[in-house]
Amino acid sequence: MKNPPILIIGKNGKTGMRVNQRLQALGYDTRAVSRSTTPAFDWEDAATWAPAIKGTHSAYVTYQPDLAVPNAESTIKAFVRVARENGLKHIVLLSGRGEEGAQRAEKVLQDSGISWNIVRCSWFSQNFSESFMADGVLVGELILPAADTLEPFVDADDIADVAVATLIEPDHRNKLYELTGPRALSFAQCVEEISEALGRPVKYTGISVDDYINALKEQGAPDDLQWLLRELFTVVFDGRNSNVMPGVEEALGRPATDFKTYVQKTMASGIWDAVMQKQSA
Ligand SMILES: NC(=O)c1ccc[n+]([C@@H]2O[C@H](COP(=O)([O-])OP(=O)(O)OC[C@H]3O[C@@H](n4cnc5c(N)ncnc54)[C@H](OP(=O)(O)O)[C@@H]3O)[C@@H](O)[C@H]2O)c1
Repeated sequence: MKNPPILIIGKNGKTGMRVNQRLQALGYDTRAVSRSTTPAFDWEDAATWAPAIKGTHSAYVTYQPDLAVPNAESTIKAFVRVARENGLKHIVLLSGRGEEGAQRAEKVLQDSGISWNIVRCSWFSQNFSESFMADGVLVGELILPAADTLEPFVDADDIADVAVATLIEPDHRNKLYELTGPRALSFAQCVEEISEALGRPVKYTGISVDDYINALKEQGAPDDLQWLLRELFTVVFDGRNSNVMPGVEEALGRPATDFKTYVQKTMASGIWDAVMQKQSA
């Protein structure tokens, strides 16, 4: 009998996309969903959850906008209940380090009776190329708070490799992996490495959290995004997450990818060129 498809919530996301590609390359059937797919999956519309889950037994789950937001715990609680009622037996949850809200949401899954994995991650290196920090790299100046904080940025390819292993290898069941890169770097150091590789100046400019949030407000950023970024830059980026963790090695038996390798891969992929061409068009 054919195996049921593996559910991926967050089809177009930085890790969901990679998990989907890897599983398909290995010959697994997948059902990758988000708001723009059929069936659709929207964290803000619980009526979309059961139709997306039905017929699947295991899932890779990325929450939006972030497990740190105040209602994440109750949403994950409701989601886990619907998941159980609709036959899901194993959930791999993407989580964030040092976020109290995220850790509460993890606990909901761990206590649910469903078999689980938590993939608890530091900031993704790919935020510099596939997310809000890419624009700063492209215009040559990244303006962000948290000037002196060191972060061991983790490569989304490593996260996807760990997620896939936890989905398809039963030995990993009911384990939490805390994933970081092998080196803690400041934003300024990251930008310097990117600038060197690009062969053009990109600088980091520090800013106070208040000025940063006020600028976002003036640009029309929604209140919840303002709240989330304030939380990330004041609480999560207070230095609590600067330590390097061995999660990638523990899960995969190989070292985590260094930021330098991420920069080289991203250069080779042309992502930074493609966005540059789009901006100058
Ligand atoms: N980025 C990091 O550094 C980092 C670090 C640690 C943990 N995390 C965690 O990773 C998760 C993903 O965050 P991310 O910023 O990296 O985003 P992401 O995985 O890149 O996901 C973006 C995608 O989410 C989908 N989406 C947006 N709102 C949705 C909704 N209401 N319901 C369903 N899908 C929705 C969108 O696709 P559609 O438009 O098609 O819906 C969008 O393409 C979060 O839970 C975050 O806490 C992120």
